[in-house]
Amino acid sequence: MLPALRVATRQAAIRRASPTFALQATRAASTWANVPQGITEAFKADSFEKKINLGVGAYRDDQGKPYVLPSVRSAEQKVVSSNLNKEYAGITGVPEFTKAAAVLAYGKDSSALDRLAITQSISGTGALRIGAAFLERFYPGDKTIYIPTPSWANHKAVFNDAGLKVQQYRYYDKKTIGLDFDGMLSDIKAAPKGSIFLFHACAHNPTGVDPTQEQWKEISDAVKAQGHYAFFDMAYQGFASGNTDKDAFAVRYFVEQGHNICLAQSFAKNMGLYGERVGAFSIVTASAEEKKRVDSQIKILVRPLYSNPPIHGARIASTILNDQALYQQWLGEVKDMADRIITMRGLLKDNLEKLGSAHDWSHITSQIGMFAYTGLDAPLMDKLAKEHSVYATKDGRISVAGITTGNVARLAEAIYKVKG
Ligand SMILES: Cc1ncc(COP(=O)(O)O)c(C=O)c1O
Repeated sequence: MLPALRVATRQAAIRRASPTFALQATRAASTWANVPQGITEAFKADSFEKKINLGVGAYRDDQGKPYVLPSVRSAEQKVVSSNLNKEYAGITGVPEFTKAAAVLAYGKDSSALDRLAITQSISGTGALRIGAAFLERFYPGDKTIYIPTPSWANHKAVFNDAGLKVQQYRYYDKKTIGLDFDGMLSDIKAAPKGSIFLFHACAHNPTGVDPTQEQWKEISDAVKAQGHYAFFDMAYQGFASGNTDKDAFAVRYFVEQGHNICLAQSFAKNMGLYGERVGAFSIVTASAEEKKRVDSQIKILVRPLYSNPPIHGARIASTILNDQALYQQWLGEVKDMADRIITMRGLLKDNLEKLGSAHDWSHITSQIGMFAYTGLDAPLMDKLAKEHSVYATKDGRISVAGITTGNVARLAEAIYKVKG
C-alpha cells in the first residue's frame, strides 16, 4: 500500500478540488450525493503529480502527450500551400480521398474496387451511422444487427438510433481473458439465416482480443453457410499490428470468399486525425450496374443528414495516401505507434512478473491494439483509482497508449498491490 499519509493527503486534495465538496459541506443530503464522478473529472481533480490516466481513447507519445504525425504535418502544409478553394465537396466527399481509402482497405488488386459504392463520412462513427441507415432502408432481411459482447460502447446507440434492432453474440471469455471462439461460432450458426453481423476488423475495442487468421476463415465459412451479411468496422487499420495489410486481413479474406460486405473506416487513430473527422463507408456490390444504384441511394441518404462532408481532413488524408513518399513515411509512423504500444504491453507484463505477481499476465501481450482488458473487476479498478491514482474504466479496460516508460513501473506496482 501507499504510505497512509500520502493516501490521505492525496484524497484530501481530490476532495478539495471537487466542485461539489463545498456544496456538500453545507447541504448534507443532496439528491445527487451518490452520483459518482466520471473518470476524466476524477483524474483532473486528483492533484497527485504521478497520477496515471489510462481512460483516454487516443494515442499518446512516450511523454504522455497528444501526437500529431509528422506525415500529417507535412501533408497539411502541402494542402495549405496549394491555396485550394473552399467550395463544397460533392455529397460523397473528396473523390481522391475515397478512392485511396478504398485501396488502403481492400488492397490495390481487389476485385471489389470496380464495384464499390463508397462515400466519405464523419469519421468512423459517421460511417457506421450511414451504414446502419442504409441497412435500415434497404436490407431485405430482418433489421437486426448482432454485435459482439462486449463491443465499442457507441455501437448499440448508433445502430438503435438508425432504427436497427441490436442483439449480441458471444465474443469475450472472462475466464481465459481471451476469445470465446466456440461461443461466437455457435451464435453465428444459431442466428436466423440472413442476419446482419458486425465484426471489428482488427484491434477489438474494448478487449484487444482478435480472432486469428485461421479463426477468421472459420467465421467466414459460418457466415456464408448461414447466408448472413457481414458489416466490418475498421477503426484501427495499421494501428493493431503496425502493418495496414495485415490488419485488413479479415476484410480482404471475406471479399475474396465472395461476401459482399460493407465497411466503416476511420482515420482518427491511424492518422491521428481525431478531430478532423475523416472516414469512409463502403458497400461491395455485385456488379458495376448495382454499384450505380447503391451509390445513388447513399447520396439520397446522406443529403438530408449533413449535405456533404468537411474537406480539410480528407485533403490531408488524401495527400498522404496519394503521395508515394508521404505514404511510405506514414506507414513507418503507424508502425512506430503500434510498436510503442506493443513495447508498453511487454514492459507492463515484465514489471508485474518482476514484482513476483502470481498471475498469468500473458493476455496483456497477446491482446492487440490500443486497449487491454486487464481482467481486473470494478472494485479493483476503484481501488486502483482511489489508492494509487490510476484511472481507467470500471470494466478493467486500460488504454495502453497512456502507458509510458516513465510510468510503467509505478503502474505495475499499483496493479500488483491491488491484485497480487
Ligand atoms: C471500434 C470503434 N469503431 C468506431 C470508432 C469511431 O471512431 P471515430 O468516429 O472517432 O472515427 C471507434 C472509436 O473509438 C472504435 O473504437
